[in-house]
Amino acid sequence: MYNGVILCAAMEYTEVVQNFVLDHTIGLSVAVSVGVVLWGIRRYVKGPRYYGKRRIDGKTVIITGGNTGIGKETAIDLAKRGAKVIIACRDITRGNNAVDDIKRLSGSTNVSVIQLDLASLKSVRKFTEEIHKTEKRLDILINNAGVMACPYMKTEDGLEMQFGVNHIGHFLLTNLLLDLIKKAAPSRIVNVSSLAHVFTGQLNFDDIAKREKYYNAEEAYTQSKLCNILFTNELASRLSGTGVTTYSLHPGAIDTELGRHWRSKQRLIREPIYFIYSLFTKTPYEGALTNIYCAVDESLDKETGKYYSDCAEKAPSKPALDEGAAKKLWELSEKLVGL
Ligand SMILES: NC(=O)c1ccc[n+]([C@@H]2O[C@H](COP(=O)([O-])OP(=O)(O)OC[C@H]3O[C@@H](n4cnc5c(N)ncnc54)[C@H](OP(=O)(O)O)[C@@H]3O)[C@@H](O)[C@H]2O)c1
Repeated sequence: MYNGVILCAAMEYTEVVQNFVLDHTIGLSVAVSVGVVLWGIRRYVKGPRYYGKRRIDGKTVIITGGNTGIGKETAIDLAKRGAKVIIACRDITRGNNAVDDIKRLSGSTNVSVIQLDLASLKSVRKFTEEIHKTEKRLDILINNAGVMACPYMKTEDGLEMQFGVNHIGHFLLTNLLLDLIKKAAPSRIVNVSSLAHVFTGQLNFDDIAKREKYYNAEEAYTQSKLCNILFTNELASRLSGTGVTTYSLHPGAIDTELGRHWRSKQRLIREPIYFIYSLFTKTPYEGALTNIYCAVDESLDKETGKYYSDCAEKAPSKPALDEGAAKKLWELSEKLVGL
């Protein structure tokens, strides 16, 4: 009797489900298809995992902007692999908090912070003097810090902020650390660029340093990221035969604090757009994987001056391969920093 009641209820339930499916066939098909497409996009955006296990015990690594975003995740991973990790951060309180997190999450005690504001050439010089006092070699330099689409601002030295921080600060930093990097050869310099470089054409040398004639926040960012690739290429040819290799990369689209300036304008429109965008982004850890790959992977030991994305070599835009522009940028940068 009891079993019969259960059987009747089950049959009734099955019938209700069948009728619902038959009545809503089109709606359900659309919902499932949309779900599959969204899942596919999310999987695609996340990119491949990096499973390389190489240890880097005893190696010294500097990561600019290592207090948050992909820089912090890179620091955690490289500390786990046995490296001595120094994060270079403009805000020492945020830097110290990040050091506590990186130590806790990596299980390493060999992590420290030194203050570095890339918007000040004086700060870059002070940072490299400190490093020379404590370090005899530098195995891996990761130029990761960046600012995106900020309102028009100038660095302490009068340069437009995105060009000044994303390119010029790192240009001087790298040059002043080159002696220590060469001593550690085979050693690596990793420059974090962006796919955004494809949205610009040739560098605008007339006004690139100050952008006083015309300022577009997004254009200034894309040009600064193009500079990262041209700098990597020129550095590779200048360091040929030294055992120091260079890499530029796009880390993917990642939900980090990088969008802070972009989101702060026209909030009512941009916040919802950002919310939808963030559903399809990589996590900071996933975004750090190409940094880690370029910093440690064995298959790149002999590679130099190339561009990577999703842990694989990719072709950058045509202007990013312009050797003349790379040389011109180097000469201009030397003048601007006084080298
Ligand atoms: N997120 C993405 O979707 C994406 C896509 C392509 C490329 N990238 C590139 O990836 C790199 C890392 O970005 P992220 O996404 O991890 O961004 P993030 O979370 O905003 O981290 C940027 C880091 O740069 C530091 N920084 C900014 N200005 C500085 C200055 N003047 N001196 C020293 N450090 C400074 C920040 O310090 P504070 O914490 O003190 O601000 C922070 O540590 C950038 O080069 C960016 O262009 C990111």
